[in-house]
Amino acid sequence: MRRKFIAGNWKMNKTPSEAVTLAAELLPLVKNDEEDVVFCVPAIDIVPVVAAVKGSNVKVGAQNMYFEDKGAYTGEISPLMLKDAGVDYVIIGHSERRQYFGESDEMLNKKILKAFEHGLTPIICCGETLEQREEGITLEWIKGQITAAFQNVSADLAKASVVAYEPIWAIGTGKVATSEQAQEVCGYIRKCICELYDEATADEIRILYGGSVTAASAPELFAMPDIDGGLVGGASLKPDFGGIVNYK
Ligand code: PGA
Repeated sequence: MRRKFIAGNWKMNKTPSEAVTLAAELLPLVKNDEEDVVFCVPAIDIVPVVAAVKGSNVKVGAQNMYFEDKGAYTGEISPLMLKDAGVDYVIIGHSERRQYFGESDEMLNKKILKAFEHGLTPIICCGETLEQREEGITLEWIKGQITAAFQNVSADLAKASVVAYEPIWAIGTGKVATSEQAQEVCGYIRKCICELYDEATADEIRILYGGSVTAASAPELFAMPDIDGGLVGGASLKPDFGGIVNYK
């Protein structure tokens, strides 16, 4: 039985002091020992939020990292810095990173391998545009993204990783995918993992849905057989996130 995994993606919101206030506000609402609960916060908020959630059930994630340990990469954040600061997870390949910052499948694969090397669990994002869905090439596109992401990743590491299916047309639009649409793609991702590795790996890996998840839509989405939780943007900044975590 896979443990549910609910991560909030705060994106570029909250200053360090605001982040501490939000974390304190959310902590009592997101208590849940049966699930993994993660706040993926802006880089500058990591240190104060790690301190704010200490002793609670919440873990902290980053939203991005670079694929080198250290060096002349002005403005970048190393996995060693994340690890030392107390981070456990890192979102890799969010569609906003791909779209606005030109991150390619190859670059994301390097980041994924580097994250594993330093004991960080990547939350690997994939998803299609509305045009791709309308053209009927969603599954093919997702297969390409998944295959590229897992290049040279061993089965043991793949097992421990988290994949987030986030249709781009559903992100921040209020237009949530139906649970059937989300299940179809999450089930397909599991099938791809089975083809790349084996059934045991496909059984263990956690696959999330993301895109306008709210406390109202979470119960139906998370009840689908291949949806193991959510990556939540807008609603993760509000008390609603408590309703998502405790959706049952
Ligand atoms: P949203 O964002 O919940 O605001 O749609 C999800 C995401 O981008 O991870």
